[in-house]
Amino acid sequence: MGQPRHAPEDPDWWRTAVIYQVYVRSFADGDGDGTGDLAGVRSRLPYLAGLGVDALWFSPWYPSPMKDGGYDVADYRAIDPAFGTLAEAEKLIAEARELGIRTIVDIVPNHVSDQHPWFRAARAAGPGSAERELFHFRRGRGTDGELPPNDWPSQFAGSTAPVWTRLPDGDWYLHLFTPEQPDLNWAHPAVRQEHEDVLRFWFERGVAGVRIDSAALLAKDPDLPDLATRPRPHPFVDRDELHAVYRSWRRVADEYGGVFVGEVWLPDPERFARYLRPDELHTAFNFAFLSCPWDAARLRAAIDTTLAEHAPVGAPATWVLCNHDVTRTVTRYGREDTAFDFATKAFGTPADLALGTRRARAAALLSLALPGAVYLYQGEELGLPEADVPADRVQDPMYFRSGGAAPGRDGCRIPLPWAEDMPYAGFGAHEEPWLPQPADWPSYAVDRQERDPDSMLTLYRRAIALRPMFGDGPLSWLPAPDGVLAFSRAGGALCVVNLAPTPAVLPPHSRSLLTSGPLDEAGRLPPDTAAWLRA
Ligand code: GLC
Repeated sequence: MGQPRHAPEDPDWWRTAVIYQVYVRSFADGDGDGTGDLAGVRSRLPYLAGLGVDALWFSPWYPSPMKDGGYDVADYRAIDPAFGTLAEAEKLIAEARELGIRTIVDIVPNHVSDQHPWFRAARAAGPGSAERELFHFRRGRGTDGELPPNDWPSQFAGSTAPVWTRLPDGDWYLHLFTPEQPDLNWAHPAVRQEHEDVLRFWFERGVAGVRIDSAALLAKDPDLPDLATRPRPHPFVDRDELHAVYRSWRRVADEYGGVFVGEVWLPDPERFARYLRPDELHTAFNFAFLSCPWDAARLRAAIDTTLAEHAPVGAPATWVLCNHDVTRTVTRYGREDTAFDFATKAFGTPADLALGTRRARAAALLSLALPGAVYLYQGEELGLPEADVPADRVQDPMYFRSGGAAPGRDGCRIPLPWAEDMPYAGFGAHEEPWLPQPADWPSYAVDRQERDPDSMLTLYRRAIALRPMFGDGPLSWLPAPDGVLAFSRAGGALCVVNLAPTPAVLPPHSRSLLTSGPLDEAGRLPPDTAAWLRA
């Protein structure tokens, strides 16, 4: 079993951590009803400790009508009954901690569920009420207020669905995502107070960190101007008021030694880095790396930009290949266009999974060798591909909001395969899983991969165990042929990744420690393969 690399009292654990994202609904089903739950996670903690991860990030596990997979939260101080109870979550946090694994919870400050008590009260209280001030209620345009208050587009890719919904009393309310996710008014002091209380609630239960959903969208221009008028600054993306919110959150986190990771999708590296100033968020997801195509020059540029943007603020980078919103890595890397972009992903895009898997293995060694923290999304360590979900089983609102044009995100949320010869590949015992597993799912099962020295799981276990040899010093690029990435880290370890179409000669080294695939007869690194070497 892997040894936790970070002592329980190490305040800097997050700077070099490997963090595993658990999407509870699809992780492991303890009670066999077809939905993953906390009992399932608790039973698999030894597996996670064996993988060697430092922390678990749980996608929202709170009571939710599940109109957006739990990102529609009805109560931040409880656990969805389908997943378990608060007492069980507390046990889980403590049990994980005993195995050296910290817990990160997910907070969704931009919006709540329409079933949250605040929104129910606002709906009942009527136009002009104080309750409605916690949200963005407006009268409509047009002679009878029959037109939405402005022209903002839905934040679900490919969707032209409106972001305003009208209530029978004539008021419209804003929801950047689904109508069941009304946006909160962050100019209201009660909204700020409530979220700081929620942070305390979870820090007091022993969580080590908080992931902040849609972190750059909270603040809105109070005039809600039309986007067609090209208002500057942008009326709802990356507004300066947000930084005061996060400074205040940071003071709360510092009381508990807690850390933040922000979901900040911003193309401008300078604007992105502002969220990572020393008195704001500790880290943010690296979507530039996640979106980058399998191309040596592009990846090197993404790595250099990342390191350069983080350096002045002293924040560690994060390296992310995949999460519950995007195409699974082996599928993406097996496509002709290996970049990730919500806008260009369509049904039926062909993928060469053998090629994608080779590349995903090499990418795993690349990300785990870079300076900073690494995020791993459940099933990535099994090399799961994106699954096709039959139209009549689709759950994701992104699909419905786009009128079926965007494939949605169910394909990366399929319940995990644990045991090759068990019903539902060992996910749960009795009921069919909430999303159907493809026929070949058992071939990816954990028990099968544990027996296979060449499996993706074995590669991840070895790599995570060896990773500390890279240390936490900087990276230096080494001379390498076109299409080959080679760098050393201060600890004396080297990483070489061949993205060229021909085999590459390895740089001078004393020992080869791990490769993502076999070297050729001449000892060269084949295409789409990576090696970790001792200098
Ligand atoms: C984030 C989440 C995504 C969710 C959206 C709205 O992007 O990762 O799953 O749909 O926010 O909360």
